[in-house]
Amino acid sequence: MAEKRRPELGTVQETLLIPLYARAVETRRQRELLHDPRAVEMVEAIDYDFTRFDGAKSLIGANLRTLLLDTWVRRFLAEHPHGTVVEIGTGLNTRFERVDNGTVRWFDVDLPDVIALRRTFFDDTERRRMIAGSVTDPDWVTSVADSPGPYFVVAEAVLIYLEEAAVQDVFRMIGEKLPGSLLALETAAGAMIDAQDRHDVLSKVDARMHWRCDDPSTPERWDTGARLVETTTLNTLPHPVRDRLPWSYRVLLSTMGTLRRRQIEAYRFNLYRMEAR
Ligand SMILES: C[S@@+](CC[C@H](N)C(=O)[O-])C[C@H]1O[C@@H](n2cnc3c(N)ncnc32)[C@H](O)[C@@H]1O
Repeated sequence: MAEKRRPELGTVQETLLIPLYARAVETRRQRELLHDPRAVEMVEAIDYDFTRFDGAKSLIGANLRTLLLDTWVRRFLAEHPHGTVVEIGTGLNTRFERVDNGTVRWFDVDLPDVIALRRTFFDDTERRRMIAGSVTDPDWVTSVADSPGPYFVVAEAVLIYLEEAAVQDVFRMIGEKLPGSLLALETAAGAMIDAQDRHDVLSKVDARMHWRCDDPSTPERWDTGARLVETTTLNTLPHPVRDRLPWSYRVLLSTMGTLRRRQIEAYRFNLYRMEAR
């Protein structure tokens, strides 16, 4: 049996193991919401105590978020089959494997230690490239801008870990260099940030969220060209996503929607268009 890879990851970088494990757990289930055999392989190859996340309801939430973002990317690719998708803070995500249409160009951006780990599992190809660097450093946007548009930028569980000023910089860079692009990300309201020490998976790692955003239309006021075009919570997922949910998940969401309404409302998934100015 091959020796396991011990990940040498910084504090925020470690969080990539949470959605990775969520996808692996879901894939091992019989009635899987998403099918990600690569995630199972990677979890088996990485030397890390994933069992600390076992039983956490947030793993289901992470998969629902992934499914929604897959749906938005697929919709974009149906309209723009030759467009460019950028996954910022990609971790060990396998969205390309799930949505590749054979013509998309794809960039995976993350911090150097993550890209070093990622390179042990994935290769660059003609249509897909990894970029090591911070999303707050403009180099990645310059590389992406050389690829043909239109652009769809996905930031899944990434910007919430930055301070608001850094999030504003990311919006500004995208607005300036990739005008007309779509940007998908989630926002966490102050109530969620304040409760994170009790969060079922975040409490198991050292990283903490910083960007408090009570209103997802806030970025519209930053003068970066951002316009909120869609926003949803786990409880109002659009039909293509809801239709795939097993019965048990529907019951869970409806119960949470009643009992934990404030908690559900605090975590929103948002799509912005960066309007050309
Ligand atoms: C919770 S993980 C999400 C990983 C991936 N998006 C997914 O859903 O599987 C957060 C990711 O954001 C990355 N990240 C955090 N701050 C970053 C920064 N300043 N620049 C690039 N990546 C960053 C981390 O390294 C990590 O891979």
